[in-house]
Amino acid sequence: MRRTPLYIIPLLAVTILILKGCGMNPRSVSEESELDRKVDSVLALMTLEEKAGQLTLLTSDWDVTGPTMRKEYVEDIRSGRCGNIFNAHTVAYNRNLQKITVEETRLGIPLLFGYDVVHGHRTIFPIPLGEACSWNLELMEKSARLAAGEAAASGLTWTFAPVVDISRDPRWGRVSEGNGEDTYLGSLIAAARVRGFQGEDLSDPYTLAACIKHYAAYGAPVAGRDYNTVDMSEIAFRQDYLPPYRAGVAAGAVTVMASFNELFGVPATASPYLMTRILREEWGFKGFVVTDYTGIDELRAHGVAADRRQAGILALTAGVDMDMQSAIYMETMQGALEDGSITLEEIDRAVKRVLRVKFQLGLFDDPYRYFDDRRESSVVHSQEIMEHALQSARESVVLLKNEAFKGSAILPLASPRRIALIGPLADNQVDLLGSWHGAGDIDQVVTLRAGLMNRYPGATISYAPGCGFEGDEVSGFGEALRLARSSDVVVLAIGESQARSGEAASRSELGIPGVQEELALELIKTGTPVVVLIMAERPLVFPLLNEKASAILYAWHPGTRGGDALADILSGNYNPSGKLVISIPRNVGQIPIYYSAKPTGRPMDPGNKFTSKYLDVPNTPLYPFGYGRSYTTFEYGETGLSSESIGRSDTLVVSVTVSNTGATAGEEVVQLYTRDVVGSLTRPLKELKGFQKIYLEPGVSKRLQFRLTAGDLAFVNGKLERMAEPGEFRVMVGPDSAHLEEKTFTLKE
Ligand code: GLC
Repeated sequence: MRRTPLYIIPLLAVTILILKGCGMNPRSVSEESELDRKVDSVLALMTLEEKAGQLTLLTSDWDVTGPTMRKEYVEDIRSGRCGNIFNAHTVAYNRNLQKITVEETRLGIPLLFGYDVVHGHRTIFPIPLGEACSWNLELMEKSARLAAGEAAASGLTWTFAPVVDISRDPRWGRVSEGNGEDTYLGSLIAAARVRGFQGEDLSDPYTLAACIKHYAAYGAPVAGRDYNTVDMSEIAFRQDYLPPYRAGVAAGAVTVMASFNELFGVPATASPYLMTRILREEWGFKGFVVTDYTGIDELRAHGVAADRRQAGILALTAGVDMDMQSAIYMETMQGALEDGSITLEEIDRAVKRVLRVKFQLGLFDDPYRYFDDRRESSVVHSQEIMEHALQSARESVVLLKNEAFKGSAILPLASPRRIALIGPLADNQVDLLGSWHGAGDIDQVVTLRAGLMNRYPGATISYAPGCGFEGDEVSGFGEALRLARSSDVVVLAIGESQARSGEAASRSELGIPGVQEELALELIKTGTPVVVLIMAERPLVFPLLNEKASAILYAWHPGTRGGDALADILSGNYNPSGKLVISIPRNVGQIPIYYSAKPTGRPMDPGNKFTSKYLDVPNTPLYPFGYGRSYTTFEYGETGLSSESIGRSDTLVVSVTVSNTGATAGEEVVQLYTRDVVGSLTRPLKELKGFQKIYLEPGVSKRLQFRLTAGDLAFVNGKLERMAEPGEFRVMVGPDSAHLEEKTFTLKE
């Protein structure tokens, strides 16, 4: 088939002549308008079917991440009916698909290649919820940058990440992919990950187009059940759930993914309010919106579309540009245009947004720029990436408990001679990678067993699984207990398999699955010191184990270098510094539970029946947001304020001296919260407004300063305006959301 050589676009020359004719030197034309002109020049050449093709995204059969797979996707590429592919990677595989589109379609518009590079590509970092517990924004940005490098070197141009959904409900399996319960921290992480993925120049072959997902409020399904209705006030939405999406867009994300859920009674995929009013008109977003998997077709099940054609009309007119896997734009656009249900302007608007990103990625200059075999072999599993995976895993682990056992703390392990290594996660590779590990290389995973053997070459490390993840089989207990009785210490690795979290993995009970907790309690009864490592993708519920165990580490699913990182922590080679970004409940009945709760009109008072509390459990979580211990101790001096009051243009400086009063160097995440005591709307008891992660040698002190302005005190008021109101404020500093020293200041009129 003859095709117009696109990357030598004759219309560009005409455009420049026109500009010169207008006395405008093309060089003075901003890059933006230059980009727009290139896009327009391609658009002008396209047929309607080719336009629908650019708005179509189909999965390959390499990997399938949803309920359908269209077998004829290669023919769809060849015919120009599909202009974007996902779930395909490696240079060899993707180069062939690109070759088909460039050499066999009429216009040769290059394909986008998307994939869920959520927490690493071939080398896997801790699950995002775990890595967020590092509170290390530079580390998380670097994870995204390195993941982008590996993925782009593997022929990909677009990742469906970061997930920025705020969630306060660990029954929802996808809490693992996000950044926890807090809006302020979640917004900073969203921006950091976008910067990491996209870098400074999208045409750099070591960067990826990012995708802010799942827009919007997908993390708040009723009853924690995935895909379920989301129902909240607009104020709660704009105050607590919307900011991280905005932070990702403000950081330059060029794509956004519509979420499966409805919000305010309208499915996100058909919501002009979300996709046009907020995203375009309020935020000025210029990229494109892609649906989630078959999201347009699901408008029928939502009950807002009678058929596929109407579903397509609703989505396109709402402002959704690309159709992931429904193949509805491909099949119904012509008819909808002919009968006037949609306009050519609406179609062209969407096509231009997609073409714009393809230009930004440099694909029109060179459609094969991401297909370099040498780069692929040199970047994947590079030493830099493997070292970073280790550091990220180290900083993600949270030390929950390390109490004296027979007179002294069990951790760090003091060169034990005989270690009983027990549990279904003790000698396990695939589950350490966690959910959404995509193309993660399972063979590269360092198990906890291998990590301990590397760290303790002289010790006898005896391994027994003890039990499985699920079920009530206890025949393995005997072997495990025998090993425990003949060892100096038990390292017990229990928790969730990676299949029990992530998408479509909601749970109504959050206990440690199977008989793992029973095994742990039996091991503790032997009298041998037991270190409990809980590896999961969400907060689990374990009040009894918490009561009986002396040492508990929450290790999430730590990724490719998980075993080495855990061995470093168990041995004290690395002093744990992780702090929870999501509350760990005492039981499921407390959910949703989060630190930034409102005071209510009857704040909990144990001495007064008629106050807000349960009869059977405290209001507080088992472990609060921001909590995490260290092998050393930190002491906080008195919080100082630069003034007792500030005006709207002033800055309040909050200072505190933190000292390492223990015998080991360590890192501490010093947190700052505020409370707006009286507002035109009810305000939370505390809100995170700042944090600093510091490293202190033993005996060393550091004076920290935080700066607060009126902007930091703003909230979404009854008119949906973001504004600070004058009056009394509390400022609180401490190691977590439950241990804070409080001071008072005033914001003047
Ligand atoms: C899935 C997920 C989404 C993912 C997409 C493509 O259904 O909801 O997060 O990016 O499909 O794999």
